[in-house]
Amino acid sequence: MDIEQAMQKFERILEKIDPDDMQTFLRRAQERIKEELQCGDGGDHHNEDVMLDNIRDSLRESLPLSAVSRTETIVHPSFGPNSKMDPKHTIHVDAFLYDDQKFDELCDDGKMSRNYCTQCGSHDMKPLTVLTHSASVPQLKYIFLHLLPSLRDKTLLDIGSRTGAVLYGAYLYSSCQNIVGVEIDSTFCKLQQKTIEDYSFEDRIKVYQQDILDNPSLISSSDVVFMNNVFEFFQTKELQERMWRALSEALRKPGMTVITVPSIEESLENLGILKEVNMDWLKPVDLRKERKRAKCELLGGNSDEDELDNIFMYKT
Ligand SMILES: C[S@@+](CC[C@H](N)C(=O)[O-])C[C@H]1O[C@@H](n2cnc3c(N)ncnc32)[C@H](O)[C@@H]1O
Repeated sequence: MDIEQAMQKFERILEKIDPDDMQTFLRRAQERIKEELQCGDGGDHHNEDVMLDNIRDSLRESLPLSAVSRTETIVHPSFGPNSKMDPKHTIHVDAFLYDDQKFDELCDDGKMSRNYCTQCGSHDMKPLTVLTHSASVPQLKYIFLHLLPSLRDKTLLDIGSRTGAVLYGAYLYSSCQNIVGVEIDSTFCKLQQKTIEDYSFEDRIKVYQQDILDNPSLISSSDVVFMNNVFEFFQTKELQERMWRALSEALRKPGMTVITVPSIEESLENLGILKEVNMDWLKPVDLRKERKRAKCELLGGNSDEDELDNIFMYKT
């Protein structure tokens, strides 16, 4: 069918719709068209961007500057490259809530600092290690607008959903039908639930306050599983090993897509269990083309930032 014929058919459908149903029909058609346009594009998402900005504004008001909740305990790694981090010289700056511009504003206002003084009173300054526990907005857009195909009728699970950044990203930048978050920390669960209600996202987002170890069926029933460094700063080495063994059993559904930060191999290598935990059926996807295009669109092309380089995708 050519475009003229398609448009004539569309006009005929419009004539036949009951006027009482017209608004509903048009809204649903609009969602369907948006879905087609969104699949892999870098199109205009102005309304979604504004809504995500509003969510970030309200979350910033509900959390301390560090965005670490009062009910959680950060476990500084005792092994792997991050064990070299000195907790005294490390700050938590949540990349979803504070992008570079917002972080700069906080530093200018004296509310945060990028450096520490090695000898009080001197000019001998060293940069602080900046740690984030959330996905940034460019990372979310990269995942939902560049990496994943249409998620209509699919289920996406974010293991360790924290502020809910990935859930809101999935809601706004994809047509994913079932968006599920599981988070062990009660404060973050309440915050996510409030945001979901405030923005009427209940039709597609659900959050469980649970240890993922207690509900592995959430993993095995999902089509897309996202894991952003879920365990490294939150679980002991022993528990992390248990988590990865459980994951290797659950991440097997045919056609499943798994997105991780950092790579699965790096996480297992740091734990020293790369040879023991076999996940050979998860095949890495080459993302070079998508990353290049996304860097150009989302980071202006001249960024050395590794925020997109650190995202890995696998398919069963
Ligand atoms: C690095 S954050 C990731 C946040 C979010 N996925 C994102 O990308 O913005 C990891 C989260 O996993 C949660 N977590 C750690 N172990 C967990 C477990 N066993 N079950 C559920 N959540 C867990 C932590 O409380 C933390 O909020």
